[in-house]
Amino acid sequence: MMEMYDNPQHVEDTFTESNLSEYLLQAQRAEFVELKKAIIEFYKKKKSPLKILDIGIGDARILKRFVGIKEIWDTIKHYDGIDVAQNCINISKNVIKDLKIEKKVSVKLLDAVNLKKLNKRYDLIISTWFTAGNFYPFDFDFKKFKPGYDMTTNDRFTMIFKQAYEMLNPNGEIIIGSMYIENDKTRKKQEESYKQFGWIVITDERDCFTATKDGWWSQRFTRQRVYDYLSFVPKEKISFIPLDTYNYAMMVIIKK
Ligand SMILES: C[S@@+](CC[C@H](N)C(=O)[O-])C[C@H]1O[C@@H](n2cnc3c(N)ncnc32)[C@H](O)[C@@H]1O
Repeated sequence: MMEMYDNPQHVEDTFTESNLSEYLLQAQRAEFVELKKAIIEFYKKKKSPLKILDIGIGDARILKRFVGIKEIWDTIKHYDGIDVAQNCINISKNVIKDLKIEKKVSVKLLDAVNLKKLNKRYDLIISTWFTAGNFYPFDFDFKKFKPGYDMTTNDRFTMIFKQAYEMLNPNGEIIIGSMYIENDKTRKKQEESYKQFGWIVITDERDCFTATKDGWWSQRFTRQRVYDYLSFVPKEKISFIPLDTYNYAMMVIIKK
């Protein structure tokens, strides 16, 4: 099956900064500020450099920024990245080569549903900029879709994060960098962005995700939905950080 980011148009539209709405750009910035804080806090506790896994590395945007900030890059022992789209792996490999960071970084084509195949343990597992919202249920069919889809459960989302949780070192953390917050205003902002890209939205207010005819899929979350999908994690281990003042995006930190 073609993955969302196997579509070169999706790569071009969403990885080109000048195409992005101010809301999307601000979410990236706010997320990065919180990510830096989480890494430094973790490093101070652990007192030795961290092993990080990036699920859905995309164009290695976060990695590039980390490399540029010595205080952060020095806290990282090893950075692994996976992505389900060959397009993204190719872009990331070029970034790694250009930055000459092959010793500390490796990327691999892998669907996060097979995360366990990495057979490794990490201090921090990150999945940034709305990636987690791209994990849609296995039986979702874009062709047969009718608005009002039941999202009480999301088997793909749960399967991915269950494996990630099991791959954490003691005291490790999963950081879901940003998630759209479920409300009508956010839905409209998402729809507006996608229309701007020229995509055809097939969902409406009956759904907690926005999907397009060309196979884009992006979910919005409430705190309860996060608890429901991550029911294998004790509730007190999950915390939420708002990334703005207008209920657009939040970060979720899951502690082991
Ligand atoms: C919204 S982009 C975010 C890219 C990057 N993390 C960033 O912050 O800029 C989502 C990325 O996750 C990847 N992705 C989506 N589903 C995936 C899956 N099941 N396994 C691995 N990667 C996946 C996509 O191919 C894409 O590169």
